[in-house]
Amino acid sequence: MADEAIAATQTTDRYGVMGYPISHSRSPVIHRLFALQTGQKIQYELLQVSPEKLETAIRQFQRTGGKGLNITVPHKSEVVRLVDQISERAATAGAVNTLSFRGGEIHGDNTDGIGLLRDLAVNLGVTLEGANILILGAGGATRGIIGPLLEMQPESLRIANRSVTKAQILADHFSRSGPVTACQFNVVPVSKPYDLIINATSAGLTGETPPYPAKAISEDTFCYDLSYGLAPTPFSVWARECGAAQSVMGWGMLVEQAAESFNIWRGIRPETEPVLKQMNITA
Ligand code: ATR
Repeated sequence: MADEAIAATQTTDRYGVMGYPISHSRSPVIHRLFALQTGQKIQYELLQVSPEKLETAIRQFQRTGGKGLNITVPHKSEVVRLVDQISERAATAGAVNTLSFRGGEIHGDNTDGIGLLRDLAVNLGVTLEGANILILGAGGATRGIIGPLLEMQPESLRIANRSVTKAQILADHFSRSGPVTACQFNVVPVSKPYDLIINATSAGLTGETPPYPAKAISEDTFCYDLSYGLAPTPFSVWARECGAAQSVMGWGMLVEQAAESFNIWRGIRPETEPVLKQMNITA
């Protein structure tokens, strides 16, 4: 093997996650565990980057030989305009969480939706086909999961939000892909019980519990919070108090979206179950 080729195989490829703030991120731990499991030699950095420095920081990472980045709050929408190529699912979501630097170009993808689907359908055994789904919140997180959820052919998907206008805009945007409707929290129709309620508001980040529709929960309802924490989130506590069949936080989605990003970068999909166990998280 030529010297350059040997050097290339021995190089540790650089990845990282950019967000603001970022110190809480578990992505470095997850990717290190994936790398150990799959025998891949990578380095994964935590990069705190404020919005005004985002473009410079990404280009510098690319210029200095970085291979890929995860992009997290609050940069996921902004980064769309910086990519040279965008996957269909990222374009639909209007958000990018995975960048790959190849041949001088920046490729943008979004693994959040598939990460949620895998956690729900594979890890947690939730049936999405024919399900009645209620999503609370109508921001970027909701936009990213509607397309993938509709592909699973639910019977209905309702978006409830504090501001109904935002929910309606999303419902109109996705109405060609499936049965999506919008309403406000206080007028969520409950003629049929919901099989799945997903909290996609950011209210929990400030410890708030908005006037979520308690009547939408039945004893058969599975509740899922896209947020996660070491202590139960306000939504997951609320769902349990309302008598939900199960109330789960989004740790599984976090690990699944990371596995999809790892696969995009390294061409190998790690096992997620042992990593979730190693992180010692009780969902
Ligand atoms: P993200 O990218 O995390 O979705 P976002 O785009 O800022 O963040 O959206 C935040 C969502 O949480 C919105 O649906 C917001 O409701 P509004 O559209 O009415 O603003 C919702 N949200 C945040 N704080 C909330 C609160 N205290 N009560 C109810 N909804 C809240």
